[in-house]
Amino acid sequence: MIIEKISKEQDKVQALDLIQSKWPEKNRGYLDFFLEQNQDYCLEAKEPSGKVVGVLLARLASKKDIWWLEIQIVIVEEKERKKGIGSTLLAKLEEVCEKEKIRYLFLSSGEEDLADGSFLFYLRNGFKIVGAVRNPGESLLYFQKNL
Ligand SMILES: CC(C)(COP(=O)(O)OP(=O)(O)OC[C@H]1O[C@@H](n2cnc3c(N)ncnc32)[C@H](O)[C@@H]1OP(=O)(O)O)[C@@H](O)C(=O)NCCC(=O)NCCS
Repeated sequence: MIIEKISKEQDKVQALDLIQSKWPEKNRGYLDFFLEQNQDYCLEAKEPSGKVVGVLLARLASKKDIWWLEIQIVIVEEKERKKGIGSTLLAKLEEVCEKEKIRYLFLSSGEEDLADGSFLFYLRNGFKIVGAVRNPGESLLYFQKNL
């Protein structure tokens, strides 16, 4: 499995297909804008055949001198799940953080991820729950991993 930044046009097309399989509202404009702003923190998992089977999008944020990455999207093709691809994408992102002195990873997880158990992926990868918002129909959990 090759883990690399999303840069080639054919990879962007496949990455978007994968993203839209769960979030159909995300369009090409969203992906292009996100990549333009955060290219170093947007990774793909690609088979030697060139097929993109995993995507991770994260963006850089800061306050004073503290820098962190907010993970927006992690998705692995359904047939390829539970084989370690999601965890490998996260591990590669952490390597990037180490080089750039980024102190932690952060993300929020909504109702759907709580209901289908996919938020457990983050706990398995060392994230801690650091906050919650509870409103009818819009509960969120906040996760953080210190690096
Ligand atoms: C969440 C997701 C990215 C995980 O990718 P993956 O490649 O399957 O993850 P890994 O194989 O690296 O799994 C790592 C650990 O997380 C756990 N895990 C992953 N997905 C899980 C799920 N849906 N429910 C419960 N546990 C899960 C695995 O059991 C594994 O632990 P183990 O090795 O001790 O058994 C993938 O399931 C996915 O694409 N889901 C749909 C998109 C999505 O919901 N993304 C946002 C998640 S909040």
